[in-house]
Amino acid sequence: MKIAVVKEQAAGELRVAATPETVKKLKALGAELAVEAGAGINAAILDSSFSDAGATIGDRAATLAGADIVLGVQGPDPASIAGVKPGALVIAGLNPFVERTRVDGYAAANVQALAMEFMPRITRAQSMDILSSQSNLSGYKAVVDSAAVYGRAFPMMMTAAGTVAAARVFVMGVGVAGLQAIATARRLGAQVSATDVRAAVKEQIESLGAKAIFVEGVEGQSEAAGGYATETSEEYKKAQAELVSGHIAKQDIVITTALIPGRAAPRLITDAQIATMRPGSVVFDLAVEQGGNVEGSVVGEIVEKHGVKIIGYANIPSRMAADASSLFARNLFNFLNAFWNKEKGEPVLPAEDEIVQAITLTRDGKVVNSRLLG
Ligand code: NAI
Repeated sequence: MKIAVVKEQAAGELRVAATPETVKKLKALGAELAVEAGAGINAAILDSSFSDAGATIGDRAATLAGADIVLGVQGPDPASIAGVKPGALVIAGLNPFVERTRVDGYAAANVQALAMEFMPRITRAQSMDILSSQSNLSGYKAVVDSAAVYGRAFPMMMTAAGTVAAARVFVMGVGVAGLQAIATARRLGAQVSATDVRAAVKEQIESLGAKAIFVEGVEGQSEAAGGYATETSEEYKKAQAELVSGHIAKQDIVITTALIPGRAAPRLITDAQIATMRPGSVVFDLAVEQGGNVEGSVVGEIVEKHGVKIIGYANIPSRMAADASSLFARNLFNFLNAFWNKEKGEPVLPAEDEIVQAITLTRDGKVVNSRLLG
């Protein structure tokens, strides 16, 4: 059973899908590990650390030759993994809705593509959930990056020269990233408030010591299976916009994280609202790559509008590539370990298993995932 770990090819992707720790653990299951030279260098892992852990290091062709499993952070181009065994597993974050052509390419190449971001939100799958592990880091990093760009302090400081007021931070969208953003901003001493469309989150916001800002008494907010948000009603959207408008004008930092699975990110902040913020404020749009929560945000850039800086950094987990890789690699290991058949010395993936069914995109030369077939 040969497992190949490829070097990421997407621009700006600094993570790697395995670490020396997971290489050792996969070897302990009986697998042979091949790592492409330089795969870990951007995540502070040297080739020698991988070989010390028991992996062989080689060029891409040697790494992939005869592989049964390919591990990646982002989906490798199907043409770039020629040489793997027919029916090999390709396990990575595959961005299936956006990279649909690539999914067809996996089917044509006769590999079984498994999209880790389709992991169901069930207890058994929690340790395999790349969205959670990476979003948590993104929430932290958004606050730290905002603090770096903000020209004022976060905590209140009483000094002989006078008092510096605490920064006011508002977090919009309180899933995994939002909760970590609240906790991080609180630790830095900011006054924090937060909002979401899912009423269940209110208690979580308050338990972190932040103020919950919620639309009350309007129908049209909802929560789908697995805790995800769904589209809100027009009436709700209007009430939310009014509530948020008054609040935003008094904030120094706004961090938006709102996503709706399979759809463009909801627009939460308009240019007119940004104009009401005081100059020097910072807005961080964590949803910029999914269409953006903030009018005017640009992928990969900091733009200034009305004296307010709007941060649209791309691939935030890559900005903390070492920690992000280590958690991502454990998610992949936890998945393989859960399905590993010790007698056969390989993972066995029953097609009817809830996890396997949710994440399998292609099998036997065909696209089989119901979310893609519609
Ligand atoms: P997400 O990344 O899909 O969305 C971020 C947040 O934006 C969500 O809280 C969502 O309700 C909110 N949002 C959407 N539209 C909005 C709008 N118009 N205005 C304001 N907020 C809006 O969410 P994430 O981080 O993936 O978490 C979703 C839920 O799943 C959470 O309840 C989380 O606790 C749960 N979860 C469960 C897991 C498990 O059981 N295995 C693992 C990870 C998360």
